[in-house]
Amino acid sequence: MSLKSKTLDLLRRREKAIQGGGEEAIEKQAAMGKMTARERIKAILDKDSFHEYDLFVEHEARDFDMEKKVLHGDGVIIGTGSIDGYPVCIFAQDFTVAGGSLGLMHARKITKIMDHALKLRVPLIGINDSGGARIQEGVSSLAGYGEIFFRNTLASGVIPQISVILGPCAGGAVYSPALTDFVFVVDKISKMFITGPEVIKTVLGEEISMEDLGGARVHSEITGNAHFYSETEEECFSQIYKLMTYIPWSNERKAIPFKSKEPKSKYKIDAIVPGDPKQPYDVRDVIKAVSDDSDFLEIQEYWAANIIIGFGRIAGETIGFVANQPLVLAGVLDVDSSDKAARFIRFCDAFNIPIITFVDVPGYLPGIDQEHAGVIRHGAKVLYAYSEATVPKITVILRKAYGGGYIAMNSRHLRADFVFAWPSAEIAVMGPEGAANIIFKKEIQASPDPDKIRKLKIKEYKEKFANPYVAAAKGYIDTVIEPKETRKLLVHAIEVSKNKRIDIPKKKHGIPPF
Ligand code: HXC
Repeated sequence: MSLKSKTLDLLRRREKAIQGGGEEAIEKQAAMGKMTARERIKAILDKDSFHEYDLFVEHEARDFDMEKKVLHGDGVIIGTGSIDGYPVCIFAQDFTVAGGSLGLMHARKITKIMDHALKLRVPLIGINDSGGARIQEGVSSLAGYGEIFFRNTLASGVIPQISVILGPCAGGAVYSPALTDFVFVVDKISKMFITGPEVIKTVLGEEISMEDLGGARVHSEITGNAHFYSETEEECFSQIYKLMTYIPWSNERKAIPFKSKEPKSKYKIDAIVPGDPKQPYDVRDVIKAVSDDSDFLEIQEYWAANIIIGFGRIAGETIGFVANQPLVLAGVLDVDSSDKAARFIRFCDAFNIPIITFVDVPGYLPGIDQEHAGVIRHGAKVLYAYSEATVPKITVILRKAYGGGYIAMNSRHLRADFVFAWPSAEIAVMGPEGAANIIFKKEIQASPDPDKIRKLKIKEYKEKFANPYVAAAKGYIDTVIEPKETRKLLVHAIEVSKNKRIDIPKKKHGIPPF
């Protein structure tokens, strides 16, 4: 055969292999509002940047008549490409081929591209759309998952790992996304659960839909398993694009800087925080009032909304923002918000992203529910994550910084590099009402007018402690600033922290309160 006819033969083979599961299966997907695996890759990556590998891989299963089945590419597409010029490794499961189920060769393709990503130190994007372990391949499928989980763990903190759930993700298969850094879900398309509705019906006798069990909203609002929620696949892909512009390729680099841009004038930093400490406000406005172009990419927006996390920029450099949100539960720390903040702090620390923390916290949430849910263990994660982080850490105390919340929210004692406070800051063991009731209990009870004396004692306590000057006098706060000076000081703090180096004791690894 001449080279020309061999080349024609290659093209014919390619044409066949990229068909996936064929017209009918593709139409079934489209009817559910889903793109094909190839369309997804094309939509996520830069135009014409995708290079595919292992197109001709075939499955080796022989049981249950599998030898008679042709599964193009064994139900998964792998390759390399770029996003906004960033190199990435990517895989996409193809539901049209045996339900995207994971057999031995399918798993080998995924682990090949994972190994590439780790070796090449570039981000990994995985698109999950699969019926889970390929039932006909038995333990080979389970082995495949194990190999994937091991690599997720090895790559954790070295390269960013992104999971996009665009179909079912059932059984143990959900643990790969759970081991990655960011999980994207799309309304009505994404489904994640350990045991599906059929099993639940058999074992528990309960009927539940896949949507109610593990749909996109469930994981964005209730479980916190998802980090980004969108209505359509296109919206999801633009979220991925935006995230990629904020994060570095690996832990050996910094995120690519942008040109510095002033915040939008509509965010007036003086006018956001109300004078009355009981009045709520949206702390995202404070973040937008200091960040370049007021641009802020919020993460886990719909879960544990009493804390806000996300990326913005200061003078062009990517910043991880953590802020108590007085709009929700007065911004208290609880089990979920502690988990949310701690994991984000660890991501920022692993990937050389400075952290700015805005504090307005009445403390940890009291009550039997929280105590029994393990607020001690979960709350400790915030202390651990901030203490362990060696990236530049800057704190601005806006209003309340009470009790454990004061310490936990990147206080000087956990080695914040700079702590600034607004004149409205109140730093105390607890709120004035609670404090006065406890320390002046006898005096209040003995008084003929307990209400009057209570009010007097609250006032006395406020004057003594509900201000930033006691902490400033001890050097726990570096400087008390006018709100309008905040951005200027943050720009300077980030600038002077560029070469921060600190030594931590040598150890294999710490043991965080997981
Ligand atoms: C082999 C599978 C499969 C699987 C789907 N298919 N899941 N083949 N192994 N796990 C095949 C179907 O036989 C069918 O093939 C095609 O994919 C499309 O599936 P449908 O059922 O027709 O699609 P749909 O109606 O959309 O339902 C999708 C689904 C359902 C909800 C995902 O297929 C399903 O419940 N699958 C099983 C899910 C599951 O329990 N997986 C195992 C989890 S345990 P044909 O040839 O007819 O087109 C697990 C352990 C991992 O994953 C442990 C790791 C630690």
